[in-house]
Amino acid sequence: MNIDKRDWMFIALIVVVVGIFVGISGKEKTKLVPNNAMHKASYDAAFKDAPAPDAPIMKRAFYKPDKKGAEVFCEPCHKEKGVPYPPNHPAKNRCLFCHKLKQ
Ligand code: HEC
Ligand code: HEC
Repeated sequence: MNIDKRDWMFIALIVVVVGIFVGISGKEKTKLVPNNAMHKASYDAAFKDAPAPDAPIMKRAFYKPDKKGAEVFCEPCHKEKGVPYPPNHPAKNRCLFCHKLKQ
């Protein structure tokens, strides 16, 4: 098989696309919400409607934790306990977009 210039362009394009994917996924390093006594209220709120492990598969597949319900607790408590944010912390609405809950 002959690899001509157009093939090389195509290969280069794939390399770039794969590189971008790797670059983006590598950025997912935001700290998880610790699953400890402090954060129990948030976990309980998020998973209060969680289907039982033996629920039908479709029910479990479409289940989403109640993130908005859990987020109402985050900021007030962090403020009260004086948990520091890093100096360049992004806008703080919707904590759970960035800080994932542990499953
Ligand atoms: C009842 C108080 C309380 C609530 C509610 C709370 N936090 Fe926290 N959080 C803390 C305290 C205190 C710490 C300091 C470390 C620790 O004790 O876990 C902390 C630490 C953290 C950390 C840093 C963890 C680390 O590894 O350093 C993150 C991220 C975090 N909280 C996110 C959240 C999010 C998101 C929510 C809402 C879904 C939330 N917290 C709700 C008290 C709270
Ligand atoms: C747009 C994304 C984003 C949102 C929304 C967000 N954070 Fe963060 N948060 C970050 C990033 C990025 C860092 C710094 C990297 C890290 O330590 O995870 C950080 C760091 C933190 C830390 C310090 C973790 C440590 O121990 O170094 C805490 C605590 C925290 N965030 C709490 C919150 C809370 C509470 C909310 C909601 C009120 C919130 N964050 C919303 C992105 C976000």
